[in-house]
Amino acid sequence: MPEIDDLRATWGRRSDDQSDATVPEPPPAAGTEPAADRIPPLLEADRVVRSYPGTHGALAVRGASLALAPRDFVALMGPSGSGKTTFIGAMSGLDAPDEGEVRWQGRPMRDLSRSQRHALRRRGMGVVFQSFGLLPTLSALENVELPLRVDGVDLDDAHGRARAWLERLGLADRLENRTFELSAGQQQRVAVARALISEPQVVLADEPIAEVDTENADLILEALWDVVGRGGAVLAATHNPEALRYANRVVVFRDGAVDAEGSPDDLVHRLTTD
Ligand SMILES: Nc1ncnc2c1ncn2[C@@H]1O[C@H](COP(=O)(O)OP(=O)(O)O)[C@@H](O)[C@H]1O
Ligand SMILES: [Mg+2]
Repeated sequence: MPEIDDLRATWGRRSDDQSDATVPEPPPAAGTEPAADRIPPLLEADRVVRSYPGTHGALAVRGASLALAPRDFVALMGPSGSGKTTFIGAMSGLDAPDEGEVRWQGRPMRDLSRSQRHALRRRGMGVVFQSFGLLPTLSALENVELPLRVDGVDLDDAHGRARAWLERLGLADRLENRTFELSAGQQQRVAVARALISEPQVVLADEPIAEVDTENADLILEALWDVVGRGGAVLAATHNPEALRYANRVVVFRDGAVDAEGSPDDLVHRLTTD
C-alpha cells in the first residue's frame, strides 16, 4: 500500500529497529540527584535559523530559542507569516535548521541515528500539522491507528485505541469515512488523535483548534492537557485565546524571532488576533 510506504519514509519501519532504536533517553545526570533547574528540557531549540531557498524563499526563522520542560503547555502566538510553522518543523526534527540546534532531552537531534529519529517520531513526539497531513485514501480509523501499526502494535489493539481516541474527540460516527469525506474540523480532530495515540512525551501542535467550534476546541485542548498531566509538554501554535486557559507560558513570534515570552496574564495585552 503506497500510503504505508509514504508513512514509513517519514517514521521509519519496524524492520529499521536496531538495538539503538529506542526513544533516546537523557544523558545520565552527573553525581547525585540533579537540581530541578539542571534537568534538561524535554525539547529545546537553541538559536534556530531556517530559510526557504529560491526566488520565493524567505528567512522564516531568525535565531529563535525555546525550551519545553516537563509539564509545560506553551502557546505559540504571533501574526500569520511570523514563522510559527517553520519553527515547529525544525523543533520536530523533520526540517533541519540552517543554523542553531534542536535538542531532545539534552541530545542534539543531529546526533541521533536514523532509527532513533524514527523511534522518536513514532513514540516520543506527536505532531499535529497545520494542514493535517492525513492520508486521503485511508479511513479516519486507519489514519489514527497507523502510527501504532507501523510500530508493530497488534491490529485489534491498534483498532481499539484508535476507536477510543476518535470517540473521545466526538467522531464515533465517522470512523469509516475517508478523510475527504470529512469537514476540516473533523479532519483536524483525526490529526490530533493520530498525534496522541502513541502517548508521546511531547506534542507539537500547529493550529490544532483553528477549524473547530468552542466545544470541539475544548475536547482537543483537554486531550492535549493529558500530555501535561503525565509529565510531558505541549507546544501549540494558536490564535485562539481559548488555549490560554491551558497555557502556563506564551511565546509570541514576530518576524521569525521570539518577540515576547511570559505568562498568559503578562502578555495578554500584546497578543494579536491576526
Ligand atoms: N515552502 C515555503 N517556501 C517559501 N517560503 C515559505 C514556505 N513556507 C513558508 N514560507 C515563508 O516563511 C515565512 C514564515 O511562514 P510560516 O512558518 O508558515 O509562518 P506562520 O506559521 O507563523 O504563519 C513566511 O514569510 C512564509 O511566506
Ligand atoms: Mg502556520
